Amino acid sequence: MTTVEFCGLKLAHPVINGSGTYDAIAARRVFGDELLERFPFAAFVSKTVTLQERDGNPPPRLWELAGGLINSIGLPNKGLEGYLAHDLPELARLPVPLIVNVMGSSRDQVAELLSAFGDRPEVAALELNVSCPNVHTGLTMGADPGEITGLLGRVRPLTAKPLIVKLTPNATDVPAVARAAQDAGADALSLINTLRGMAFDPRTGQPWLGGVTGGVSGPAVRAVALAQVHAVAQAVDVPIVGMGGVGRGLDALDLMRAGATLVAVGTESFRDPGAGNRIASELEALLANSLV
Ligand SMILES: Cc1cc2nc3c(=O)[nH]c(=O)nc-3n(C[C@H](O)[C@H](O)[C@H](O)COP(=O)(O)O)c2cc1C
Repeated sequence: MTTVEFCGLKLAHPVINGSGTYDAIAARRVFGDELLERFPFAAFVSKTVTLQERDGNPPPRLWELAGGLINSIGLPNKGLEGYLAHDLPELARLPVPLIVNVMGSSRDQVAELLSAFGDRPEVAALELNVSCPNVHTGLTMGADPGEITGLLGRVRPLTAKPLIVKLTPNATDVPAVARAAQDAGADALSLINTLRGMAFDPRTGQPWLGGVTGGVSGPAVRAVALAQVHAVAQAVDVPIVGMGGVGRGLDALDLMRAGATLVAVGTESFRDPGAGNRIASELEALLANSLV
């Protein structure tokens, strides 16, 4: 398979995972060393790490749609300290580069997180999830170009590692945010994160999800992902990690046609834990047959 160069990293193929959709530590327990021999992704993106430990949202946390799901998991994680002590040593044993995804609710929090990972040798790159509101301004960090400029102005100098900004699709002008991120020093962009959605319990008439609203993902968002990746690719020069509803090689190829350099697989891994390798092989066959 042809290797891909991404922000200075040499990857075996262009398919990685979407943050929070593949638990490599649990998979290692289930599949043992076989997982390391045939790891499904060319790089591993960890679930979002926040400064403090989080329990996540109350249940129910999932609602299945005809073409995907709505999740209101709410970013449960061990917090920075727990991640460094427990998760990082295990994830460092994976046979692929590790990309750590972080999120904070203020510029200072993001700064602390990026500083903590900034010179860790186990970490190949950082992904900054900007779907969180800034507690000081009330604005979702990734929904406003000015917020992104201010945030990256503060945190970009704190690490020399490649910095990927994961954009939110819940914004009025995603290409404007993308351009602001590039101008403020992002090395790459990733999109799309989940789209805000909601479901009602048909029996009670009450919101189904414990978090009331959640994030829509899976095949239902694929067309939105294509349109947003295409629009962002017109607006920036930095490489793009495209994701949203990828379930087969053709979906990955479409995102590349729209302008993505890498493609991430999320919801599909819940149905097929080997989806990453399968999609990479299907993509390679499509490219080899020149169906481009
Ligand atoms: C259950 C679940 C958990 C997720 N957790 C995270 C997360 O922790 N951090 C993050 O940046 N994105 C998270 N995402 C978003 C995915 O990484 C991805 O951007 C989105 O699901 C679109 O891709 P897909 O349609 O292939 O799932 C999560 C998505 C799902 C479905």
